[in-house]
Amino acid sequence: MLALLAVFAAAASLLLLRRYVLNIRTRSNQRRESVFKELGTSGDKRVVGFFHPYCNAGGGGERVLWTAIASMQRTEPDVISIVYSGDVDASKQEIIQKVKSRFDIVLSPDTLHFVWLRKRHLVEDATWPRFTLLGQSLGSMVLAWEAMNAIIPDLFIDTMGYAFTFHVAILLGGIPVGAYVHYPTISTNMLARVKSRKAGHTNSDAISSSSLLSQGKLLYYRIFMYYYAQSLRRASFLMANSSWTKGHVDSILQHNDTLLDFVHLFSPFALLRLYLQPSHQPPREAKIVYPPCDTREMATFALEAREPVVLSIAQFRPEKDHKAQLRAFETFVRKHPEYKARGVKLVLIGGSRNAEDAARVDGLRDFAKELKIEEYVEFVVNAPYPEMLRWLSRSSIGLSTMVDEHFGINIVEFMAAGVIPVTHASGGPLNDIVVPFNGKPTGFHATSPDEYADHFHTIFRMSPDEELELRLRARTWAVQRFSNEEFEKGWNDSGWKKWLNTSA
Ligand SMILES: *[C@@H]1O[C@H](CO)[C@@H](O)[C@H](O)[C@H]1NC(C)=O
Ligand SMILES: *[C@@H]1O[C@H](CO)[C@@H](O)[C@H](O)[C@H]1NC(C)=O
Ligand SMILES: *[C@@H]1O[C@H](CO)[C@@H](O)[C@H](O)[C@H]1NC(C)=O
Repeated sequence: MLALLAVFAAAASLLLLRRYVLNIRTRSNQRRESVFKELGTSGDKRVVGFFHPYCNAGGGGERVLWTAIASMQRTEPDVISIVYSGDVDASKQEIIQKVKSRFDIVLSPDTLHFVWLRKRHLVEDATWPRFTLLGQSLGSMVLAWEAMNAIIPDLFIDTMGYAFTFHVAILLGGIPVGAYVHYPTISTNMLARVKSRKAGHTNSDAISSSSLLSQGKLLYYRIFMYYYAQSLRRASFLMANSSWTKGHVDSILQHNDTLLDFVHLFSPFALLRLYLQPSHQPPREAKIVYPPCDTREMATFALEAREPVVLSIAQFRPEKDHKAQLRAFETFVRKHPEYKARGVKLVLIGGSRNAEDAARVDGLRDFAKELKIEEYVEFVVNAPYPEMLRWLSRSSIGLSTMVDEHFGINIVEFMAAGVIPVTHASGGPLNDIVVPFNGKPTGFHATSPDEYADHFHTIFRMSPDEELELRLRARTWAVQRFSNEEFEKGWNDSGWKKWLNTSA
């Protein structure tokens, strides 16, 4: 009797779901027509939707988004790009303008449309002080639901790393999805760090000091990893921004957990599976598409007569570890006070996205005071692109302290500009970017304040010939490896165009 009731309830909910989905699709078709009309074009266009709630942030991830869209606009005039964005305080014109001034990328308003999302707070860190990963992931699904309720594209591409949205796009839209992954939402590194109970920024000291909590967190990560892997497998194609990210995405795609598979059989999601069998093979691996770095202008800067400036370019986010930069610089001027008279300076350029970031900048200013180096430190917040270029053309050293950064476009920019990079010895800066070229170094790696300080000293002490040679080598390597053309080729090879013309 109970079983019969359950079967009946299940069938009824599937029917209701189906009605709901058809409703959404009908409404979406009407909206598409009106968008086409608004853009002044006819109805036989294909639509690619880019899920990028922070499209106006002006960071490296946004450069990828806009380069891809600009390249599609140039080569595929029949494709309309829709950006799902939570930047409700900006207008289409303003965003196009900012993209031009920040990245020097020209977007055509004729094949670009924005869908404004009002629930972006659901993916903000501050909304989920605990269980951040899970909260943000569920939040992103709600956000994707809002997006699909507005307009369903023909192909859904996530460019911000919200893999849980794939389910929503597939369920509501019946469309293929793809992604450009900057950062695996959860990595085996994070799992390892909890296992070894080492404190990092996602793992507060209180938790790592207690074994029971560590066990709990491990279980939480395990469950999360299981669903994350399931999400990634729904994609039709995946791109990764570096070998590091690809390595993680590939191993997550292979991830399996028999116990959780079994438990999963009894969850309500098992029912959805009946309805949602994917019609394609999950991708076996991600393709590396290095992020584009428009280095044309930087590559023209003079390499001689640089000022004694140590430059940092990084959004004021916690993982960038700006404090380590201040510590390194403090160590440097303490060990070598003679540079003070030579006008040595640490300049921190970065975007501040919200009140939290702004508070972080204030905290960093205080920290510089505490270290008694404030007169040698300059903060340049939300600088327009030309101002950043000016700093790149004058500086001697480019500093980056983020641990396990998976790529690091700012470091490519340093190198193209002839600024000698000194980076943390991990991740992309160690393995992809600041690597020997023709058997010779293109920069330096460090882990402790002392090591950073010693490298600064080494660079400032180089002979003019030695210095020039190093700057030139770094530039030549970076310009070759990370060009717009290389990116466009990789984007083409992802196969997005093939998927645009198929259904999920
Ligand atoms: C690639 O991903 C990493 C995150 O791991 C990020 O720091 C870097 O900025 C990304 N590159 C670009 C161009 O966004
Ligand atoms: C599960 O993963 C292990 C390695 O982690 C692998 O040897 C095994 O073949 C996988 N099983 C399935 C069914 O994919
Ligand atoms: C990418 O593909 C388009 C055609 O879809 C072509 O016009 C363009 O030249 C390709 N770009 C590169 C760098 O291969």
